[in-house]
Amino acid sequence: MADCLSLIDFLRHTINSQSGEYNKKLSIMKKIKLYKNTEYKICSCGASKILPFCDDEHDKYNADNGTNLKSIKIITQETVEVEMTSKNWKEK
Ligand code: FES
Repeated sequence: MADCLSLIDFLRHTINSQSGEYNKKLSIMKKIKLYKNTEYKICSCGASKILPFCDDEHDKYNADNGTNLKSIKIITQETVEVEMTSKNWKEK
């Protein structure tokens, strides 16, 4: 359990630290299952149509907003369920 909490805290910190300016709108929480030894690309920009995963919409987002946001790649050593959010993820 401690490892899961550490992973969640790490992901929240990483995603939120890439998001830049604080946004007061409510962000959404996503619960996902990550299978061990599988690479996942997590969206940090909020433009993805398949949140929490990246679909490379950050290229257009960066061009439109003058930012340089990228996905966060993660691989877990165990299969885990995690809840994650980013201040940039909003209901569409
Ligand atoms: S679509 Fe948001 S980081 Fe790739």
